[in-house]
Amino acid sequence: MSIHANAKKITTHTLQEMKAAGEKITMLTAYDYSLAKLVDQGGVDIILVGDSASNVMAGKDTTVPMTLEHMIYHAQCVERAVEKALIVVDMPFGTYQGNSRLALESAIKIMKETNGHAVKLEGGSEIVESIERILTAGIPVMGHLGLTPQSIYKFGTYSVRAKEEEEAKKLIEDAKLLEQAGCFGIVLEKIPSELARAVTESVSIPIIGIGAGPHCDGQVLVLHDLLGITTDFSPRFLRRYLNLEESITDAVKSFCKDVRDGDFPNESESY
Ligand code: KIV
Repeated sequence: MSIHANAKKITTHTLQEMKAAGEKITMLTAYDYSLAKLVDQGGVDIILVGDSASNVMAGKDTTVPMTLEHMIYHAQCVERAVEKALIVVDMPFGTYQGNSRLALESAIKIMKETNGHAVKLEGGSEIVESIERILTAGIPVMGHLGLTPQSIYKFGTYSVRAKEEEEAKKLIEDAKLLEQAGCFGIVLEKIPSELARAVTESVSIPIIGIGAGPHCDGQVLVLHDLLGITTDFSPRFLRRYLNLEESITDAVKSFCKDVRDGDFPNESESY
């Protein structure tokens, strides 16, 4: 039987075992109770309470405005629903960069108030001091390299990162640094597939890709993209498994029609 199927609860240790055994790791975002319950029932290994909630839930252009309070609210909703998956909570912009003491305080607040299992931070050498300080409190940390959306105003675009040799070299060095610091895994976002393969082979911790090709130890997608709820976002790496935009719009249209026609509620739907 697979390591995933055997595990009662997924832990960082389970993920390490999965990488060692060559068993692929699955990760999806969730921001609310109802969908987190379905995602957990579907058997995903890691649920990420992502700061992509800023785009998906709040309709903002970037993840920059997300606050600690927003993340804590979403993580609390998710945590109430989840029985098996490991819950990773994104640390939002401005709660860990350039100040390791603030980073530790922010991470402790997330862990205390949400019952989440780990935090995720974006960046490499620039934030390693913050990562090390969070780890001193026994809080598991996941890294995030490549396209790091909280730095959108530095990059200027959401296009593929690390195509040039210098940036690719720094990315591999950063991945090794995060492993040495004690991260239990790293998300690699939107980088060339061969670079993701090199990173995956050069560290012993699990590498979870999004737009980073098939050679990573696992894959992550934003749930609302996979379900086809968000349709204004169509990057090449996205596979849509449902077209819920159409299904939901059609259901709403049918409800409106039935009410307007006097067809809803009928006798059996009334008291
Ligand atoms: O916030 C998020 O959803 C993420 C994923 C894209 C990995 O960080």
